[in-house]
Amino acid sequence: MIRILFVCLGNICRSPMAEGIFIKLLKEEGLTDQFVVESAGTGGWHTGELPDSRMRQTAQGHGIQLVSRARQVSAEDFSRFDYLIPMDSSNFRDLEAIAIGLENPHAQVIKMRYFDQEKVNGDVPDPYYGGQSGFEDVYNILNRSCTALLQYLKKQHELV
Ligand code: 4NP
Repeated sequence: MIRILFVCLGNICRSPMAEGIFIKLLKEEGLTDQFVVESAGTGGWHTGELPDSRMRQTAQGHGIQLVSRARQVSAEDFSRFDYLIPMDSSNFRDLEAIAIGLENPHAQVIKMRYFDQEKVNGDVPDPYYGGQSGFEDVYNILNRSCTALLQYLKKQHELV
């Protein structure tokens, strides 16, 4: 079982979208049973909430239902998951700050766009304070990045 946690700031826009896209890709490839996929936020302000309605609407336009509830990332996530996938450099630093206090953190931390050939290692922009087009941009970035991430993991873990 490969366990992946997507991480953003609020856990109501980018990381739930990444979770939804990745789950859809797994279904398409018949790999659902091989993965645990969740998302979390470095901040806890939106704990218990559904994803932002603008993000849910964008997802719905691409045949994806976002049903996860927001929660804050915790030190235990470094042992519960194999991969923590932060959306931007700020999320990455916040995760490193948690990891530094742990004796033997298990999870590998890899930025979402590490594999995005259109902007290698760039940030997934935070769409929260912008217009609807920002949400569509986030979808496109995440669709490319999640596709590349799955290809990487299939090779890394020798899945068919
Ligand atoms: P996310 O977007 O990190 O992609 O979920 C945000 C959502 C909420 C806030 C910031 C970013 N906020 O400040 O409440």
